[in-house]
Amino acid sequence: MFQGPFSHSIIKRAVEKKLVEIHIHNLRDFADNKHKNVDDYQFGGGAGMVMMAEPIAKCIESLKSDRDYDEVIYLTPDGELLDQKTSNILSMKDNMIFLCGHYKGIDERARELFITKEISIGNYVLSGGELAAAVLTDSIVRLIPGVLGNESSALSDSFQNDILSSPVYTRPRDFRGLHVPDVLLSGNEKEIENWRHEQSVERTKQRRPGLIEGEI
Ligand code: 6GU
Repeated sequence: MFQGPFSHSIIKRAVEKKLVEIHIHNLRDFADNKHKNVDDYQFGGGAGMVMMAEPIAKCIESLKSDRDYDEVIYLTPDGELLDQKTSNILSMKDNMIFLCGHYKGIDERARELFITKEISIGNYVLSGGELAAAVLTDSIVRLIPGVLGNESSALSDSFQNDILSSPVYTRPRDFRGLHVPDVLLSGNEKEIENWRHEQSVERTKQRRPGLIEGEI
């Protein structure tokens, strides 16, 4: 599940440039039974399996014996909602472990003992934490200095100032009867900047009024 997202485009380049290292670990390698099971039935009954604390503990302890970690993050639908501010903060950390849950989740004691932060990527349910971990990784890696070609481009992204991006255009000037706004062809940097800001504010008011009022 990580092959695709991590071996293309910006993350791939960041790894090649040695700006980030990404290591993927299989919890099954830390299973203590011959079937390599990492899940079991839940106490109290009910449908769905729970990931056992032991393989998680062994895996995290093995990683911690090699380096120190600033965060051990569990990807879970009941975690705090990921936003740009969280990604910005995490992009300044050195080493982090992302733990992907599956099935009904992980044994609560593994959360208590090892997890420093719990993150959800939205109000919907995914089959596992892997895609969420890939999303989190992408949102962080692109903020590491040197990863994006144009250093200023991460700063002008939608959300970076709780505001959406303005519309963008490239050639041709006329496309099927639709014209690029004159101001963008004017060469007047100040006017262009003002126009983009107005457009951003207008877009945000129309599409995401909550962003301006500090909601999500
Ligand atoms: Cl982090 N995990 C799962 N399984 N579902 C999610 C999620 C995470 N974030 C939103 N939905």
